[in-house]
Amino acid sequence: MRIGALREVVLNEARVAMTPESAIKLQKLGHECLIQSGAGSRASFSDTDYESAGVRVVATADQLWSESDIIIKVREPLAEELADSPDGKTLISFITPSSNGALLEQMAGKRMTALALDMVPRISRAQKMDALSSMANIAGYRSVIEACNHFDRFLMGQMTAAGKVPPARVLVVGAGVAGLSAIGTAVSLGAITLAFDVRPEVSEQIESMGAEFVFLEFDELQADGAESGGYASPSSPEFAKQQIEKFLQLAPSVDIVITTALIPNRPAPLLWTADMVNLMRSGSVVVDLAAERGGNCELTVADEKIVTKNGVTIIGFTDFPSRMASQSSSLLATNIRHMIDDLTPQKDGAINVNIEDDVIRGSLVSHQGEVTWPPPPPKVSAIAAVKKSHTVAETAAEKSLREEAELKKSLNISGIGIIIGSVLCLGLGTIAPSSFMQHLIVFVLSIYIGFHVIWGVAHSLHTPLMAITNAISSIIIVGAILQIVSSSFLVVLLASISVFIASVNIFGGFLVTRRMLAMFQRR
Ligand code: NAI
Repeated sequence: MRIGALREVVLNEARVAMTPESAIKLQKLGHECLIQSGAGSRASFSDTDYESAGVRVVATADQLWSESDIIIKVREPLAEELADSPDGKTLISFITPSSNGALLEQMAGKRMTALALDMVPRISRAQKMDALSSMANIAGYRSVIEACNHFDRFLMGQMTAAGKVPPARVLVVGAGVAGLSAIGTAVSLGAITLAFDVRPEVSEQIESMGAEFVFLEFDELQADGAESGGYASPSSPEFAKQQIEKFLQLAPSVDIVITTALIPNRPAPLLWTADMVNLMRSGSVVVDLAAERGGNCELTVADEKIVTKNGVTIIGFTDFPSRMASQSSSLLATNIRHMIDDLTPQKDGAINVNIEDDVIRGSLVSHQGEVTWPPPPPKVSAIAAVKKSHTVAETAAEKSLREEAELKKSLNISGIGIIIGSVLCLGLGTIAPSSFMQHLIVFVLSIYIGFHVIWGVAHSLHTPLMAITNAISSIIIVGAILQIVSSSFLVVLLASISVFIASVNIFGGFLVTRRMLAMFQRR
């Protein structure tokens, strides 16, 4: 098949759906690649780069439409772009079918097979094609960089000769893909980062990144996360009220707010009100990633940056990925390439639109002259659809009772184990030689003690523990040192080699442990 990438016509859209790198991989699937001249120029890919990757550069969009079987692009095609296009083509791009009914009809009228990148379900198998996540990741990163650009202080705290600089406080609302990316960026720039989400299961992930999860004291714990396709569902009015109250408390103390809250196919929930903006200090910044869907902040103006009377900058840009066009084109082109890979199961340049495949069916919005959106619910479970356990905080008395019961239970089990072990040892002792029994007892005790020592260590520390055990287990060095004084050259040689290898093990083990533990330390 011939795959052609169109130049984007929407103003300010700098991304491109094919990169020279993705073109090389598409050709390995047996396809031929074409690109409209200048399509990659705003993402730093020249026509010459494409030609060197074996891509045929064509002058006009009309030529590309007529010479390609599969058209790939970033934004949904405009009605006028489709008007003169030939019938029966396959299209892969963002389409936003929920708000583009007329476009879907136009595509079906042209017997177009259209696959919407924004409809790829959020299931683990489809992660490699999840262009929304790729773009949200970039938007999250860029939102912090954009906030820094308008914030006139350091993010990281500093102790300088000229005085102490406190770290900035960043609040990220919504810890989905964009939110987590923003949290990672803010933490790495040294800000004290707080994060809130209606899904409590993300709290561990947030904390492991070095940020603080903002909990609400609320019985009906946060909304029932990820009901469909890996996304969250709406929260109750009581919960929303508590959330607003919490944000009102936080507003005076945060310097940067990044809002990314979204419930699919709904307008963005209003979470950062005008009152909260008024409570923020002058010079603070709000970046509203949900601006395209109406915004999470009451004062957001889509695609604009405004400064309020009290000096708070509110950024509502909706083109963050396009502001990092080269990076976002690389990720997007890889997502598209993976989708085409799935459509080309035999790697023979022939595509097969398998509607039994959840991912393909989920993305298919027009096929064989019919509008095929909305798709039936996916048969496989969503990544984030793991039902959370309802965690209710224990009181101190409940905790001590539980610990006591657990101790009793473990003592009972150990007691039974010791009795069985002793009986077996006695039995064995009557027939085995005494030297064997001595070794056996040392062996059994070392297993018992080793097990209990390791059992008490947190799972996250098992790898450094193994590294240090590795170092300690090099007791072999003692034996080698004792042998090194031998009169036999061969023994001295072997002992020296052993000392060398054991030293590598010991120092390497400690070095690895040190580096791993450093990963857990907060700077
Ligand atoms: P996502 O679905 O992965 O994450 C949204 C998060 O918001 C979820 O974790 C959800 O639990 C949470 N959430 C929902 N309601 C909430 C509430 N009331 N309070 C707190 N948290 C709530 O979405 P993703 O992919 O991270 O995208 C986030 C936003 O960024 C979307 O609005 C998307 O349109 C936008 N976006 C904006 C771009 C731009 O250039 N401005 C580019 C890419 C994405």
